[in-house]
Amino acid sequence: MDPLTAPAVPARPGLPARRRRYLLCPPEHFAVEYAINPWMDPDRPVDRAVALRQWRDLAAVLRSLGHRVDLLAPEPGLPDMVFTANGATVVAGRVLVANFRHRQRAGESAAHRRWFAAARFRQVRTAAEVNEGEGDLLVVGRRILAASGFRTTTAAHREAQRVLGLPVVSLELTDPRYYHLDTALAVLDDTRVMYYPDAFAPAARRVLHRLYPDAILADAPDAAAFGLNAISDGRHVVLPAAARGLAGQLRAAGFVPVPVSLPELLKAGGGPKCCVLELRSA
Ligand code: ARG
Repeated sequence: MDPLTAPAVPARPGLPARRRRYLLCPPEHFAVEYAINPWMDPDRPVDRAVALRQWRDLAAVLRSLGHRVDLLAPEPGLPDMVFTANGATVVAGRVLVANFRHRQRAGESAAHRRWFAAARFRQVRTAAEVNEGEGDLLVVGRRILAASGFRTTTAAHREAQRVLGLPVVSLELTDPRYYHLDTALAVLDDTRVMYYPDAFAPAARRVLHRLYPDAILADAPDAAAFGLNAISDGRHVVLPAAARGLAGQLRAAGFVPVPVSLPELLKAGGGPKCCVLELRSA
């Protein structure tokens, strides 16, 4: 059986777990040296050794769930590089590399391009429009939910639809604390999501309600604990331990919450999902 499609755990009816392939980057040069989101305060000290320990625990959890973890080599001078979710969006082996809004992160695009070339991905293209990868473009089954408002633009949504070949639904974010889509919404499986309604403009809220009437809704404390920055394989949902309410809601919906703790990375405005880029093969 193809190791990429072999189930990691015995699947329960209606709750399949597919083995995923993820790209991670160790936070060896992690720092908070600038502030491009409200969580970042360059005057607050960060402990890189602690960040590395927390990141290693996350990588170990993903491996223990049966997933494949690939590594991107960290580069000095790119303190946010640990957040690989922002580097690209990958659908059926097609890669749309990010084009970062802030110059401080611009160098990460080339690092991702080099990694994808070395890993023999053949269809690799860099976004012409401002596009922060899976931070703002989330694949749900045969559709992409895409955020605008802070980083990725609506022009980038159209570009993603052209390049990746899936319909893109644009959603406007309005709360600067939830500046990327993956801080306000998590994909649970091909048909289910969870999200924090207050992070979205009223029109986006209506669209989400129409597309996912049974979605799990997060309350303000769970959203502020970065609970929506979650990684799901369709069965296990890796999420910040502090989001206790969401863990209970997930359990009630038949998922298995897997708590992790990354408080050092939260000082940069990142959580578990930000550290993971899913490499979807054809
Ligand atoms: N400091 C980084 C930034 O502001 C954090 C990125 C978090 N990544 C994410 N996918 N939400 O760009």
